[in-house]
Amino acid sequence: MSRPKILIARAISPEVVTVLEQHFEVQSNQDDVAWSPTELAERLQGIDGVLTTGSQRIDADLLAACPQLQICANMAVGYNNFDVAAMTAAGVQGTNAPDVLTETTADFGFALMMAAARRITESEHFLRAGQWKDWRYDLLAGAEVHGSTLGILGMGRIGQAIARRGAHGFGMQVVYHNRSRLSPELEADCKARYVSKQELLSTADHLVLVLPYTPEAHHTIGAAEIASMKPTATLTNIARGGIVDDAALAKALANKTIAAAGLDVFEGEPAVHPDLLALSNVVLTPHIASATMGTRWAMAQLAADNLIAYLGGQEPVTPVNHLEHSRRSAA
Ligand code: GLV
Repeated sequence: MSRPKILIARAISPEVVTVLEQHFEVQSNQDDVAWSPTELAERLQGIDGVLTTGSQRIDADLLAACPQLQICANMAVGYNNFDVAAMTAAGVQGTNAPDVLTETTADFGFALMMAAARRITESEHFLRAGQWKDWRYDLLAGAEVHGSTLGILGMGRIGQAIARRGAHGFGMQVVYHNRSRLSPELEADCKARYVSKQELLSTADHLVLVLPYTPEAHHTIGAAEIASMKPTATLTNIARGGIVDDAALAKALANKTIAAAGLDVFEGEPAVHPDLLALSNVVLTPHIASATMGTRWAMAQLAADNLIAYLGGQEPVTPVNHLEHSRRSAA
């Protein structure tokens, strides 16, 4: 019996390619070329499973053009690159890569929040530009982190991991808002208090966004929401571009409506709103919150485990949809 064929859409840890080669006929992209949607569809002809990153859009047109495709395994926890309804309708399994990146991503979210609060990158630019001439009592003075109020919008696994860092490591009061409230046990573990979105905005000294992107979450934070934050507050987005209205944020940062921001994700990335690039009170990073080699390996390995399970006739490990009928059973 011939082995299933899979495509790996971007370069991943070579060890994981080797694992996949033990199970499948593998076409990989270790040269790491960013294929256009048309090129991706061409390369998916005759392919049973694809390992995607968050950058390949999987939608109805692509699925119709690739009738053999049975599973798309995302090596990202977020899967807004998948049209899940179209995948389910087409009988195509989707999987994501949760859990393995939780702590690494929370570390980064916390670091980005601290960098914005304590003006780390602005300070480095100041020093490198030769502007450091003297001591001054208020030189690059930032906002207090320890003992302040940490606000978290989106209290999934990563939000909870950030809450624990704030509450247990930095003595912060943690407030959160989420679609559903955590159990009393989890709230106690995170030392987090559930509040309305409005109370979250108005009480947080440091607001961190960790909610998934859905069309309803588009511009969850716009001009009005930013205006109801404290003028001394910081805003950190490690969730997805589009959750924040970047143009409104740039305006608010320029006008000092809030003090600073830390952004790892952007509307239309890798493009970044030019007004953000011109500001010194925002720390900008290129969507790297999960980027440690160990975590990137674990994410790729989990995507591989999903491909191996599903194409081997088992249940996927971390499914994002439930199929009434699947291309796999039809095959
Ligand atoms: C990264 O953004 C992810 O969703 O894993």
